[in-house]
Amino acid sequence: MCGIVGYVGNKKASPILINGLSKLEYRGYDSAGIATIESDGIKILKDKGRVSNLENIKEMASISGTVGIAHTRWATHGKPSKENAHPHFDNSNLFAVVHNGIIENYNELREFLINNGYKFYSQTDTEVIPNLVHFYFEQTNDVLTALKKTCNDLKGSYAIELIYKHTPNNLYVAKKDSPMVIGVSENENFVASDIPAVLNYTKKFYFLKDKEFAVLSKDEVKFYDFELNQIQKDIKEIDWDENSVTKNGYDDFMLKEIYEQPDSVRKTINSRLSDTGSYDFKDISIDKDYLTTINKIYIIACGTAMHAGLSAKSIIEKLCKISTEVDVASEFRYREPLIDNHTLCIFISQSGETADTIAALKLSKECGAKTIAITNVIGSSITREADYSILTYAGPEIAVASTKAYTAQVTILSMLAINFAEILGRCDEKVLEKVKQDVLSLPTKLENVLGTANSVKDIALKIYNEHDIFFIGRGIDHPIAMEGSLKLKEISYIHSDAYASGELKHGPIALIEDNTTVISIYTDAKLLQKSISNTQEVITRGAKSIVITNQNLDNNKFDYVIQIPEISEFLSPILAIVPLQFLAYYIAKQKNLDVDKPRNLAKSVTVE
Ligand code: AGP
Repeated sequence: MCGIVGYVGNKKASPILINGLSKLEYRGYDSAGIATIESDGIKILKDKGRVSNLENIKEMASISGTVGIAHTRWATHGKPSKENAHPHFDNSNLFAVVHNGIIENYNELREFLINNGYKFYSQTDTEVIPNLVHFYFEQTNDVLTALKKTCNDLKGSYAIELIYKHTPNNLYVAKKDSPMVIGVSENENFVASDIPAVLNYTKKFYFLKDKEFAVLSKDEVKFYDFELNQIQKDIKEIDWDENSVTKNGYDDFMLKEIYEQPDSVRKTINSRLSDTGSYDFKDISIDKDYLTTINKIYIIACGTAMHAGLSAKSIIEKLCKISTEVDVASEFRYREPLIDNHTLCIFISQSGETADTIAALKLSKECGAKTIAITNVIGSSITREADYSILTYAGPEIAVASTKAYTAQVTILSMLAINFAEILGRCDEKVLEKVKQDVLSLPTKLENVLGTANSVKDIALKIYNEHDIFFIGRGIDHPIAMEGSLKLKEISYIHSDAYASGELKHGPIALIEDNTTVISIYTDAKLLQKSISNTQEVITRGAKSIVITNQNLDNNKFDYVIQIPEISEFLSPILAIVPLQFLAYYIAKQKNLDVDKPRNLAKSVTVE
């Protein structure tokens, strides 16, 4: 997804802008550019390729402006090229714009502007923005009014940064459905798509709501609603430290984030643990009267977040006795789901910016459901849409492949389920106590599971050349298999599938041939024997068997066994996923792939 950065202050803007873009590279991009206001007008430097290419542009040394905007482009309209890279000028070179989002009606706006004498030099939707601002500026002679009129014409999503040649001390922004944060410091202010881009300059942030504007100068930030009434906003202090957005000695962010899981799960647990050991979800004002009226819980998310939801379905149904359905957001929002005021919808999103998930949330609210968002990013768009928000405390997750966010999500969902169960009183007290004890044991047991790294690496070195790798599991182990398969696919580019073990004989087992690698997960004691039988079925057809388990097995039956600590089956996804994260990581490393920025992927998918 595109990334935007803006700076207004006393310092030379270009190094700050480029540093910000480098912190956004994990979002995925194909070109980059900056624009600064110089004494003789606005200067744009941009090109296809990496952010580091910008520093090799020879004019870079000559620009010294202290107000600027910058962009990494993840192409949606028009191929990756210098012409299509942002920033974009209007025809008069008075305005420069960067934009994250999609302008759905850009063709008609382009035609309107061409009919009014404007020319276009790129294939992008974005280029209509600076020219439309120029068009309205000609009538209003006011930048903010011209920007507001432009946004009024735009259909779709936008996070816009705009600079104007004749107001050299100002930077103008507008936001709708695309992420944007405003960082504030002494005599300088910042704009970015998300916090890591400017975290080394400030920890104080404003969060714009959709259809709001801001005008930044080095000394102040003024906010406006869509009618251009000036509004006040509160500053939020972020407790992420600068190290959290650097590799801190690890080869890759993904490896660092795998190792951070004991701490991120500990912080997530402690965020809801009272002194007495009970859970504090009082900010989610959901009481027994309301919960007893609920006959359906939907958990809606995408990708790894959806897998976290699948892992939580079991604990919610078994402890709360409420039917729970998990859906991918991109399907949920179009299948006319049965929702009413007896439906509770829980949305999971690490970034809090996933377009499909936010759209599904808006639909659920329109249909009368109460909505809870679980996200890792304070102030993210989803927190402004949901009735209630629950934060995970995984810290910034930079690698595209989600690891610590997943384990934090399953942890907080499990704690929420326990909280609901205590309110509803539909579950045996002893069962609840056992699960609560197991929750407290998670950080220590995660430390233990990190110790499997070398054994898993040895296995990775034996299977990294495979073309197909299958993951199988029953019950709670099936969603773990799905998440393990996704990790492998997205960073090693090896084809992989996950199956409910019992389903193999209904077709997929036809794919098994000599030496096919099949990874089995056994953490559900009740289903152990069935699961072993399914693995035996593939072994007898020549498969190589790798097992992740917390059960006592006859290890001689399998090629490789990775033992993890025993824990309540509701919580086993949090432990069992770690060896599979390591497996995907070490296979991708052995294939010399970019594990933090895999091809075609973005960290948060803010477009449909
Ligand atoms: C997970 O490794 C992927 N990066 C992807 O599936 C991700 O989980 C999905 O896009 C959802 O993102 P979100 O949690 O930020 O909404």
